[in-house]
Amino acid sequence: MKLYKVVLASCLVVSGLGATAQTSKNAKMDAYIKGLMAKMTLDEKIGQLNLPSIGFDVTGPILSQGVEEKIEQGLVGGVFNTYTPVAVRKLQELALKKSRLKIPLLFGYDVIHGHRTIFPIPLGLAATWDLPLIQKTARAAADEATADGLNWVFSPMVDIARDPRWGRVSEGSGEDTWLGSKIAVAMVKGYQGNDLRKDDAVLACVKHFALYGAIESGRDYNVVDMSERKMMETYLPPYKAAVDAGVATVMSSFNEINGVPAAANHWLLTDLLRKKWGFNGMVATDYTAIMELMNHGVGDAAEVSKLALVAGNDMDMVSDLYITQLKKLVQAKKLDVAVIDLACRRVLESKYRLGLFDDPYRNISEARAQKNIMNAEKLDLAKQAAEKSIVLLKNDNALPLKAGQKIAFVGPMVKDQRDLIGNWSGAGDWKKAVTFWDALQAQYPDNNFTYAKGCNVLDNQELINKLNPHGAEIVLDSRTPQQMIDEAVATAKDADVVVAFVGETFGMSGEAASRSDITLPQNQQTLLKALRATGKPVVLVLMNGRPLVLQWENDNMAAIVETWFAGTKAGDAITDVLFGKYNPSGKLTMTFPRSVGQIPLYYSAKNTGRPMSEEKYTSKYLDIPNTPLYAFGHGLSYTTFGYSDIKLSKTTIKATDNLQATVTITNTGKYDGEETAQLYIRDMIGSVTRPVKELKGFQKVFLKAGESKTITFTLTNNDLKFYDINMKYTTEPGDFKLFIGTSSADVKEAAFKLL
Ligand code: BGC
Repeated sequence: MKLYKVVLASCLVVSGLGATAQTSKNAKMDAYIKGLMAKMTLDEKIGQLNLPSIGFDVTGPILSQGVEEKIEQGLVGGVFNTYTPVAVRKLQELALKKSRLKIPLLFGYDVIHGHRTIFPIPLGLAATWDLPLIQKTARAAADEATADGLNWVFSPMVDIARDPRWGRVSEGSGEDTWLGSKIAVAMVKGYQGNDLRKDDAVLACVKHFALYGAIESGRDYNVVDMSERKMMETYLPPYKAAVDAGVATVMSSFNEINGVPAAANHWLLTDLLRKKWGFNGMVATDYTAIMELMNHGVGDAAEVSKLALVAGNDMDMVSDLYITQLKKLVQAKKLDVAVIDLACRRVLESKYRLGLFDDPYRNISEARAQKNIMNAEKLDLAKQAAEKSIVLLKNDNALPLKAGQKIAFVGPMVKDQRDLIGNWSGAGDWKKAVTFWDALQAQYPDNNFTYAKGCNVLDNQELINKLNPHGAEIVLDSRTPQQMIDEAVATAKDADVVVAFVGETFGMSGEAASRSDITLPQNQQTLLKALRATGKPVVLVLMNGRPLVLQWENDNMAAIVETWFAGTKAGDAITDVLFGKYNPSGKLTMTFPRSVGQIPLYYSAKNTGRPMSEEKYTSKYLDIPNTPLYAFGHGLSYTTFGYSDIKLSKTTIKATDNLQATVTITNTGKYDGEETAQLYIRDMIGSVTRPVKELKGFQKVFLKAGESKTITFTLTNNDLKFYDINMKYTTEPGDFKLFIGTSSADVKEAAFKLL
């Protein structure tokens, strides 16, 4: 009973709203839920903790074995993978008309980068460095999702990721803690809006708690072993930022942390998340994660169910173990019913916060779906997001293209439609995505363009066999690889410039898509070499879900454009960028290594005792430089930007002072364009070692050709804090460096002292 009271008290933690309003709101909710729970049987309470997946077809839900009965018996708290007004209404009616207490269901879904209108994959969205835009995409996704009957999205994923072998780097914001935290907040605000009871608001779910992005060797679902310092400094802040922003739900992760699986980790889910951070929402497990605790080797079915619940997982996603085990545990006096009550209360509170007890259908209507889904406004936003996500990695004056040029478009992705919306594009319909080729023909009907496929997207039959059952739709061309290359070479020879579209198919990144070799597929490399041998300038256009190793491409291609999987409007955005209607402005949020052997490679590294130099006994490789191929923050424009020296408001500051850092940025090229100026700091001496650079700010500046603007960053004492030798979050007096520049590898520098 003690535990119940302690955590119940923490449920009343005030966030956001004025304390009095919040308290009276909570009191009303508490009274309602108390009354409801007083009527519930133990089975019904456990039922609220059950979260099965239910597929559906256009005419309605296809109920998994026995789920219909379970809903009627009150043994389901929420479902996921069911959407559309018809399908949702059908299930909600079942709960409301047939179950004893008529408790409405939650409807969850993986709305990750858009619902029906698909925006660039999250790693691409992050490359926009545009927080208001990112927030708008989440808002638009929530609007579509709710129009489709959903009230809970399994997003944002905020796992910091520094190993591009891990396929799920595509689902997150990249390697940086500070930027990742800002994006987490923008997404939560976008999804939840300012009032969860509104028709277009959903519960957001920050995931995967925690440290999933740090799995060993980039192999999905693998273990994590990490110091407390690294957790606190690097990996945990984005989840904490989401909690502080009021995220309603959290998903626990698949990985273990220092020997204890996250799904069974009481320290993580209760001591840290609830007691220390004050999270008062609901926690759900990841897919079958409780069942997987048996594979982790921490207990049998009964034991893992108890472990998961006591650790702090309120809902059991798909395992069905809560509904089969918890009652028996209570009857055997191995589990205190108060723990079940607490979890049940949190599920009911989530429903209450959404207003489901007042309006279980939340204005689900076909008319609203028709009006809101994929409307002109959303498609415009998708185009804007796609344009801004594209990163120009290299350009030897080959871009922008000119419509009058004779251009050969070559490669398996010129006409590709299947891959454009990327992975985790849930309800997105790839057949509605605009291909590059279609956009090109629409924009330049009287053109001098030629096309050759050049190669299959993949030739490796073993890999194709793994990807096709999951929707890859890879069909090999009837021609031999040599015939396709010959055609491509002939087409290239006849052109002024060649534009080669290659990359990963969508299934090569995402969940369960780790790769040990992150170069382009071998057959695509063969095509690029043949094109290069023609002597024509080759522009490389990439579609992929992770940083790739592109050393040869960098050395041999005239320009390289990273388009990620840019979503429903990919084709329009790529056309605009290639022809200069949109001047590229994206910047990488994850380092591109030269070689897989450098991984993990990230900009905010430590100096070491023997920083790299010409000397033999220093920290480096014999065969390659330490530096990345493309650094964090890198991204070119068709214009160039010059940075003045940095002016500081003071060179010595007290802990109570703010510091202003000012630079003038000049557009020194021929095109108007947008620059993202980045601010980094380095604490030169500390009680513990500090990274050589840490991002602490950025500003986006639009400059016409020739124009200059002066921008000022303000640093507060908070920006200089870190976990000291005693794990106290504080500043230490001493010397600092401050950098401002166009990427983490290209900055101006100034120095100041903190007294
Ligand atoms: C993924 C989650 C996802 C869940 C539900 C899991 O396999 O790890 O990110 O939300 O499935 O689809």
